[in-house]
Amino acid sequence: MNILIIGGSGGIGSAVVERLLEEKPGATLYATYRSKRPALQHDRLRWFQLDASDERSVAQLAAVLPALDMLINAIGFLHSPEHKPEKSITEFDPDFFQQNIQANTLPSLLLAKHFSRHLKAKSTSYFVSFSARIGSIEDNRIGGWVSYRASKAALNMALKTISIEWQRKLPNCCVVAFHPGTTDTGLSKPFQRNVPQGQLFTADYVAQCLLSLLSRLSAQDSGRLFSYSGEEIDW
Ligand SMILES: NC(=O)c1ccc[n+]([C@@H]2O[C@H](COP(=O)([O-])OP(=O)(O)OC[C@H]3O[C@@H](n4cnc5c(N)ncnc54)[C@H](OP(=O)(O)O)[C@@H]3O)[C@@H](O)[C@H]2O)c1
Repeated sequence: MNILIIGGSGGIGSAVVERLLEEKPGATLYATYRSKRPALQHDRLRWFQLDASDERSVAQLAAVLPALDMLINAIGFLHSPEHKPEKSITEFDPDFFQQNIQANTLPSLLLAKHFSRHLKAKSTSYFVSFSARIGSIEDNRIGGWVSYRASKAALNMALKTISIEWQRKLPNCCVVAFHPGTTDTGLSKPFQRNVPQGQLFTADYVAQCLLSLLSRLSAQDSGRLFSYSGEEIDW
């Protein structure tokens, strides 16, 4: 079994890599980082440097990787030292919006384009992207964080669209979006104060939830958004 983890250096991505090494002893893992190569080493793990918003970088990686059973995209962006997510549309900044689209939407489109031929056609395969409940239009009751919300909503639409195309072209592939819940990583750090007790998860817990969910999903579940709890969230 071959598994590619995009963003294996991130808070949740690194936990997914570690969990996969533990739970899938027969699997070879290919994992990417953007800025700093993680220290984790294993004889079944190979690291690659990747800017997943850059098409050439994605195409170069695709050219050297073998057929895959699973591709998990765990990268994402919410805030930078200069910019917090918007509380009001009056704070909207086009550059910050572009940064959100570049990190939260574009990578999954490029990965689907360049890795569709890698996903095994004859057995069940998985194309998984980390999204967020906040990207659900149906679930949006409190507003705010417009750039992050819009970039995750666009990701959700991209995944739904890809899943429909692949029903014909890759009928054994399960394309899903995954909401991890509020997880203790750098991404959520500035916003953890108001999280109710017991609702701030460790990255390892979320990684376990994802792997347990995927073990229950097949191509029939393609084109859906799932929460860490296994519950389906409306798009
Ligand atoms: N943590 C939460 O509470 C929470 C809640 C809901 C949804 N999510 C989603 O879960 C996913 C994982 O989040 P996390 O908490 O693990 O965040 P994180 O710790 O900040 O990790 C995000 C990773 O994305 C990488 N990245 C960003 N843009 C990239 C690009 N263009 N190319 C390659 N790598 C890029 C970063 O790499 P570098 O460090 O090298 O820049 C970083 O390793 C994200 O999609 C996030 O939106 C998280």
